[in-house]
Amino acid sequence: MKNRLLKLLCCPKCKADLGIRKSKSAKSEIESGILHCPVCQREYQIINFIPRFVSTDKYVESFSFEWKIHKKTQLDSATGKTESKVTFIQKIGTKVENLRNKIVLDVGCGMGRFMEVVQPYAKEVIGIDLSFAVDSAHENLKKFDNVHFIQADVFNLPLKNNTFDYIYSIGVLHHTPDTKRAFMKLPCILKSGGEIAIWVYSDETGYTRIRNRFTDFYRIFTTHLPKKLLWYLSHLAIPFYYCKKISKVGAFLDLVFPTSNHPVIEWRVLDTFDWYSPKYQRKHTRDEVINWFKEAGLKDIEASDFPVAVKGRKRK
Ligand SMILES: C[S@@+](CC[C@H](N)C(=O)[O-])C[C@H]1O[C@@H](n2cnc3c(N)ncnc32)[C@H](O)[C@@H]1O
Ligand SMILES: [Zn+2]
Repeated sequence: MKNRLLKLLCCPKCKADLGIRKSKSAKSEIESGILHCPVCQREYQIINFIPRFVSTDKYVESFSFEWKIHKKTQLDSATGKTESKVTFIQKIGTKVENLRNKIVLDVGCGMGRFMEVVQPYAKEVIGIDLSFAVDSAHENLKKFDNVHFIQADVFNLPLKNNTFDYIYSIGVLHHTPDTKRAFMKLPCILKSGGEIAIWVYSDETGYTRIRNRFTDFYRIFTTHLPKKLLWYLSHLAIPFYYCKKISKVGAFLDLVFPTSNHPVIEWRVLDTFDWYSPKYQRKHTRDEVINWFKEAGLKDIEASDFPVAVKGRKRK
């Protein structure tokens, strides 16, 4: 943890500023120590360079597992491609240049692939995640001076109000017990005039909806399987990809046994596991998400053609 992150942190319970003690530093960062709240006396640990505001990864063990195994699968610097950058622009609906000199928050950063995209532009980029994915993200991006990680729950944020110029969250809020309630935790930590953009799974009508009903059914079983077994089963996506190329049989297989159709094998396994493993996985409509933005009092609300991606701005 870098010393200057402390200025953005607060006690998640009483919102007081935190102090630091018994800290041990390495490579100009705080490697371990205790964050102390002088008001309610709560203590939070810094372990392995990351402040931890949760003692377990609660209901997101599947993500701790996933991002440990697939730490680099989707990282542009590791693949030599720009797929994460392109995905960021599509799902967030802004050019990365617009984040220049901004204090940016990635809610549910996973192994940090979008933070890597934003890092060259942002003044500071802070990633929070409930799972131990923060350790993979830290491993991936620790060489950058303007990146910071926090292990925390979006429902109990250790971040001061009116702090961020830009908040984004890609593929995260629908994995919580209540997507709307999770979203509603974010506007207060945005500065006035700041922007927020989210992308959540869609439940629009048509083919996707039918496919979703099949996966909803399979998920009743798959979410209870041991993670390692499910990960091995996710390798079925490798041959299915080729079978699905056989005209009508393939189309039927794609509908009733949905697996990732990503051209890269490793990515196909990851995406399939990512779909069938999380405890919570909700889908939403564009109108529903737009209404959350309105209820939060945001303005300049825009939904992109990429369902469901919505952005808005906090009033001045
Ligand atoms: C599908 S992953 C997406 C990661 C990253 N945004 C990406 O697209 O690569 C969802 C992430 O949300 C995190 N998450 C789920 N519930 C959360 C919560 N209540 N607070 C913070 N993070 C949460 C998970 O731990 C997981 O890393
Ligand atoms: Zn406190």
